[in-house]
Amino acid sequence: MPSQLKIVMIAAECVPYAKTGGLADVAGALPKALRALGHEVIVVMPKYSSIDEQKFGLRPFLSPMGVWMGNTQEWCSIYTASNDGVPTFFVDFERYFDRPGLYHDAYYNDYLDNPFRFGFLTRAALQLCVELDFKPDIVHCHDWHTALAPAFLKIWHWNDPILSGAASVLTIHNVAYQGNYDASCYGYLGLQRGNFTADKLEDHGRVNFLKGGIQYADVVNTVSPTYARETRTPALSHGMALYLNGRGDNYVGILNGVDYTEWNPAVDTLIPAHFWPHDLSGKAACKAELQRQMGLEVNSYVPIVGVVSRLAAQKGLDLLAQAIEDIVSSMQVQFAILGSGDPGLEAFFRSAAARHPGRIGAYIGYSNPAAHLIEAGADFFVMPSLFEPCGLNQIYSLKYGTLPIVRATGGLDDTVEQYNEATGTGTGFKFWQPTPRAIFDTVGWAVSTYYDRKHHLNQMIQQAMAQDYSWEKSAHAYENLYDKALRNRQA
Ligand code: ADP
Ligand code: GLC
Repeated sequence: MPSQLKIVMIAAECVPYAKTGGLADVAGALPKALRALGHEVIVVMPKYSSIDEQKFGLRPFLSPMGVWMGNTQEWCSIYTASNDGVPTFFVDFERYFDRPGLYHDAYYNDYLDNPFRFGFLTRAALQLCVELDFKPDIVHCHDWHTALAPAFLKIWHWNDPILSGAASVLTIHNVAYQGNYDASCYGYLGLQRGNFTADKLEDHGRVNFLKGGIQYADVVNTVSPTYARETRTPALSHGMALYLNGRGDNYVGILNGVDYTEWNPAVDTLIPAHFWPHDLSGKAACKAELQRQMGLEVNSYVPIVGVVSRLAAQKGLDLLAQAIEDIVSSMQVQFAILGSGDPGLEAFFRSAAARHPGRIGAYIGYSNPAAHLIEAGADFFVMPSLFEPCGLNQIYSLKYGTLPIVRATGGLDDTVEQYNEATGTGTGFKFWQPTPRAIFDTVGWAVSTYYDRKHHLNQMIQQAMAQDYSWEKSAHAYENLYDKALRNRQA
């Protein structure tokens, strides 16, 4: 493997510019970690109109740039900015990216032209490499949005002096989102009729971006070892098990890291007081501030359970909704909930907060400062996910000494060590059944530990804060994956 690789990452969202979930955290942090290991990385993403150009110092870079989509040539512009030293390029194309949302409108209706938007982004990113004379060793795409990059490389660029040597890597952050669309977009994507077959891009008469990525990429990975195993089984693969198993050992799980310059109570700029394992007094100040901001009773003796989540079916919060009122009626505990998404769940948590003033606090919306305050100020953090490819919030929670209460699935199972009531070892509380009862019982277990086994609770907080999920380790695992991709490409 060349010691210094040239890598282009293509992603639909990236911190700090545009984010709806963990994909953005990864697309922001992994390039920095790879750069720190000596690789040359560039990132390509859309120039959404929501990106604050001034704040992030975006400057015009190239205009116009022609991109062939099927028989149509589209003309876009490219902007650039430095993301802590990582050159980041923004594809400016008003027809596709000048709208309020990343993927959907304010009512959560997906934009109907999403396959056109993200097919175009992907093709534009490859074209940009040509314009930049940037000859990548690795083209690394993320999720369905950019999963066609390997197909574009193999169908269109196999002979191109800049792109023909590139190996492709697809990272699946969530197999449930596949980009499965009516075949009428296929002509625009320009991937040739002959490839619209069941072993490549076709899926029951439709186009499936993720499946195409799985079939064409030189290697495929997902974001935790357990989720990699789970997605090889029909139950959790959303129909992809056949194709993922077909990739044999070219499909692996690599646990995400987290960015401890952003998510770390010793340096976090978004919380009212800092704290460390040896001095937790700042955490008490964060707790009081959280109680104030969430309209909870300000009382240091009552434990707070935090939630920060997209309100989507995946996250299992309808199970929490069924249990939460029983919990606050029968235990001395408070909830601080931050989330947005499903309108029914939004309405439920708002009304639950109104019914239990001082006990349940709900902030419906998206707020990064509020997310940091919950991580810092809560005592526990609950994630009852039905499936969870990795999950970042429980890893953040560990660093803030906020013990996770999680359903043992995917990355949640890989990152949280079960509490052992005999010895006090462990970093959190796990349950298996996806039921309100299991949530009730496990929150009860955590709350009783808080009140009755303080020495164990303190021991667990120390153990949790000592966990190290920094990106460096994961970045080394990606280096090995790139090596494998290059070998596959050469073969
Ligand atoms: P997913 O990507 O499936 O949503 P992750 O746990 O990997 O789940 O990442 C979620 C990320 O999005 C975290 O950084 C979390 O803090 C953030 N997040 C989710 N919902 C909100 C919200 N309502 N406000 C602020 N941040 C949020
Ligand atoms: C996805 C998954 C989440 C993961 C994130 C980043 O959104 O739902 O579990 O942590 O991607 O990889």
